Amino acid sequence: MFKVRAARSGIERDVPADRSIAAVLLEAGVALELSCEQGVCGTCLTDVIEGTPEHRDMYLSDEEKLANKQMLVCCSRSRSALLVLDL
Ligand code: FES
Repeated sequence: MFKVRAARSGIERDVPADRSIAAVLLEAGVALELSCEQGVCGTCLTDVIEGTPEHRDMYLSDEEKLANKQMLVCCSRSRSALLVLDL
C-alpha cells in the first residue's frame, strides 16, 4: 500500500494493492479522465510532483519512464510511500 496525494484537489488517500490510483482518486471526487484503463492510450497521463512511480504502462518510452515526471494512473503504481500528483 502507498499514499497518493492529488495536490490541486487537496486530497490524499491510501491505495491498496487491489485498486488502481485512478479508481481511488475518482471515488474521492478527483476529476480525471480514463479510457482504455490498460496503460495503452495515454488518456490518464498525469504529471508527477513528488515520489517515484512504478511504471506498468505500455505508453511511455523507456526514457520517459526513467525521467519519472509523468505516469499513467490507470495501471501504474508507486515505489515510494507517497506519490504526489498534479491533479
Ligand atoms: S486510460 Fe488509457 S493509459 Fe490510462
